[in-house]
Amino acid sequence: MLARDDWYDIARDVDWTLSYVDSKEAFPESWSGVGPVPAEAWNSWDEPYRVTFRDYVRVQREKETGALAVRDALKRANIYEKLDPAHTASSQLHMGTTCMVEQMAVTMQSRFCRFAPSPRWRSLGVFGMLDEIRHAQLDLAFSHDLLKHDERFDWCNKAFHTNEWGVLAVKNFFDDWMLNANCIEAAMATSLTVEHGFTNMQFVALAADAMEAGDVDFSNLLSSIQTDEARHAQLGFPTLEVLMKHDPKRAQYVFDVSFWRSFRLFQTLTGTSMDYYTPVAQRKMSFKEFMLEWVVHHHERTMKDYGLQKPWYWETFLKCLDHGHHAMHIGTWFWRPTLFWKPNAGVSKAERAWLNSKYPNWEDSWGTLWDEIIANVNSGNMAATYPETLPALCNITQLPLGSAWDRHNLQMYTSEYKGRLYNFDSDVSKWIFDTEPERYCGHTNVVDRFLMGQIQPMNLGGGLQWMGITPEVMGDDAYAYKWAAEYAAPARKVA
Ligand SMILES: [Fe+2]
Ligand SMILES: [Fe+2]
Repeated sequence: MLARDDWYDIARDVDWTLSYVDSKEAFPESWSGVGPVPAEAWNSWDEPYRVTFRDYVRVQREKETGALAVRDALKRANIYEKLDPAHTASSQLHMGTTCMVEQMAVTMQSRFCRFAPSPRWRSLGVFGMLDEIRHAQLDLAFSHDLLKHDERFDWCNKAFHTNEWGVLAVKNFFDDWMLNANCIEAAMATSLTVEHGFTNMQFVALAADAMEAGDVDFSNLLSSIQTDEARHAQLGFPTLEVLMKHDPKRAQYVFDVSFWRSFRLFQTLTGTSMDYYTPVAQRKMSFKEFMLEWVVHHHERTMKDYGLQKPWYWETFLKCLDHGHHAMHIGTWFWRPTLFWKPNAGVSKAERAWLNSKYPNWEDSWGTLWDEIIANVNSGNMAATYPETLPALCNITQLPLGSAWDRHNLQMYTSEYKGRLYNFDSDVSKWIFDTEPERYCGHTNVVDRFLMGQIQPMNLGGGLQWMGITPEVMGDDAYAYKWAAEYAAPARKVA
């Protein structure tokens, strides 16, 4: 009978003094990660959402009904068959690389429920955990509907059980900062940096592009998920606030590491989707424009309010923002047999004009490389449009060396540790490794494993088999190279 505000604080503050076990054993440092933060400091941990279980269930049920109603209506409308094949790549890429991350987030949130240092945080973790279960299940349900159109949607479930190189890059980051991190680090790296800083790009920008492209179903899925993300991402802020008072150096460090690594991943996944896969007439903003507005201006300003500095590598970040996703795009297209989706080259004359208008340096670094590919396609020399070798990969981001900046800056960064040489895509990735070498050493990336002879036979066929890529899903140009024809020299008139 009480009004919510009269009982809310009591309900979420349920905690007691342990008498049968030592609290250090019930909340081991390795799971909670509190470090030097005193226990009383967590009394000030507070979140703005003030959600109760009853409200939560009511709102989630409404959201779920809405999302499933759209899904049912669209199942009958055969909308999928009318979609642009370039756009389809975005949804397949999303499903394959994101679904299992949502499921991993369930584990992270359940760690908060059990080991977080504040009862309020533990209580909020329950809602976060339920959110993430819903996200993984939505991805699976929507992909299951689309399976009959394209086997690639099977990768929603399958991708993380394969060794596909892009999936391994995603897994490497989230294993490290979501599954393997303690509560404090996970809240800083995932809630604050990934969920608050970056997922808007995937779930707001991509949802807008998907809606424009006529993929109401995918857009609906993304928007439904984002409303949850926006809420549980907030649990990063009170954690940051406590940390800034008692352990500010660690807050800055985790932020700097996770910002770079998240950025490189979103650049690869969302950057290519927004600037190359979305049909040009339906693009709302370029990846760079969205990054500048949402991540640089909005997220950075918020971070500043809490006393965090811009990461020390800001200049490198801005250079990478201009080029990194173009590098990743031409690389992924070139190595297209290793993808489980069909990438759009995205360099027809109209697309190229758009790229040049958004990125004034694009032609110099990337257009010139695409011209080589175009000439080979048009002269029928298809063999030259496929790779013969493997790129060296970064031992931190798992992405190719030379993919962080333009083609004039292909410098390799290396470190030697315990007799082994490690390669990095940038001075930032090298700094990440050098700061905590024990955390990262010993890991072998795809190319390391190839060179060690773990992938047999040592050719493209052996590599594809090792990655689980089957002929039904193997990537090829989304438009079967038709876009290149407009660049072909006109046939000479016979006199
Ligand atoms: Fe999620
Ligand atoms: Fe989330």
